Amino acid sequence: MTATGISFRGVSHTYRPPRGQPVLALQDVSLEVREREFLALLGPSGCGKSTLLYLLGGFLPVETGEITVAAKRVAGPGPDRGIVFQNFALYPWKTVRQNILYGLEKQRLPRAERERRAQELVELVHLRGFENSYPAQLSGGMKQRVAIARTLAVDPAILLMDEPFGALDAQTRALMHEELLAIIRRRPKTVVFVTHDVREAVYLADRVAVMSARPGRIKEIVDTSFAGERGAEIAGTHAFAEKVEHIWGLVRNEAILAQERREP
Ligand SMILES: Nc1ncnc2c1ncn2[C@@H]1O[C@H](COP(=O)(O)OP(=O)(O)O)[C@@H](O)[C@H]1O
Ligand SMILES: [Mg+2]
Repeated sequence: MTATGISFRGVSHTYRPPRGQPVLALQDVSLEVREREFLALLGPSGCGKSTLLYLLGGFLPVETGEITVAAKRVAGPGPDRGIVFQNFALYPWKTVRQNILYGLEKQRLPRAERERRAQELVELVHLRGFENSYPAQLSGGMKQRVAIARTLAVDPAILLMDEPFGALDAQTRALMHEELLAIIRRRPKTVVFVTHDVREAVYLADRVAVMSARPGRIKEIVDTSFAGERGAEIAGTHAFAEKVEHIWGLVRNEAILAQERREP
């Protein structure tokens, strides 16, 4: 097993709310993510995508089955796994620079070095000139870039992203796709990227794991690596359209099932 290889074996997860029925969110998920692979987790709302990511991030205890990273069992959060949440999760009372510095605080670096790294990250995500702005003064795309910069501050080998661009308009999302691909081209990482957007998954990922409606299971894993090319290089091709169509066929039924289950 390589340094950042991820393995899920027989992972199930049940939520037990203090009031109401237990919810079986994930059932018997087994999955391998290879070193430096970009894996998209795709499935309808409520199928357990976030749950899977939080278990891997160490934010929820693994009760059934086993998750390992580099052959070591996940027992909590760690600097090897950086997570970007769906709703930015920035500190509203901190500036852009302070939010990014927060990601660097846990590292034992001299203050000047931390400041230098923070500035590097500001530039990496194209936010120069906004260092002293507060999140409320930024657009959605800019906020998400701050969140990404803060996560990249610790330079994690594994990047976990939970529908990071879901709240952005189409143009901003397209720009963010290019920036994300550029960032991982410069600093290769293993990425697990949660989305419910089929095109986004095929565009970015090497493989797409399609999940079933709740309880979430891995329904099929589709190779979308296009001989190592990603993004704009493949978007207009016939092969790309075919993959999107194939995966749409897989998720369509699950989306209908998820919809029906939500009706009273
Ligand atoms: N804290 C919780 N308590 C009870 N049920 C929960 C809790 N969190 C999530 N769930 C339920 O677990 C299922 C999976 O949730 P989630 O992983 O957030 O799905 P997704 O990210 O795919 O939309 C959903 O049906 C959701 O309602
Ligand atoms: Mg979710």
